[in-house]
Amino acid sequence: MDSHSPDRGFSVREIGGGLAFLVLGVVLGIGAYGAGGRLAGAGSGAAVSAAPATATPDGQALFASTCAGCHGAQAQGGIGPTLHAAARWTDTQFARAVLSGQTPTRELNAVMPRFGSVGLDGAPATDAQIAAIHTFLSTLK
Ligand code: HEC
Repeated sequence: MDSHSPDRGFSVREIGGGLAFLVLGVVLGIGAYGAGGRLAGAGSGAAVSAAPATATPDGQALFASTCAGCHGAQAQGGIGPTLHAAARWTDTQFARAVLSGQTPTRELNAVMPRFGSVGLDGAPATDAQIAAIHTFLSTLK
């Protein structure tokens, strides 16, 4: 009858553990996605080169694959905060935050990946990729 008995409910510790696991899963997922993309590119790039890696990056796709897991599909916030304010930063400010975790006012905690170190989409992040994500964010409300 008591659905809140101690051995049935989630303890705070279990929820915390689940969250850590989720973050880890997102990070690993990014790595796996990047590796898969690179393999596909290496194996079939010549035959299916309609969208080579050098084309203008798709900010929406990059955001969905790399950022939305933490910031939400519409950048509304989740594990990480909403990015609606960051959408209005300059390109330079935004790139610094994404690449090295430094916002105009502070240093971000370690949960936010330093994409300048870990790479983006399986390869070193490019200015064009960051700018494309920034542009995509500015289209969200
Ligand atoms: C593993 C989860 C995770 C992923 C993936 C992630 N972020 Fe974050 N991000 C965070 C967290 C957590 C914070 C807040 C850190 C803090 O408050 O110190 C943050 C903060 C930020 C901020 C600063 C926002 C502000 O207003 O201060 C920006 C900009 C940002 N992330 C952009 C991105 C972009 C772009 C991507 C994808 C390329 C991305 N993040 C991927 C977790 C993540």
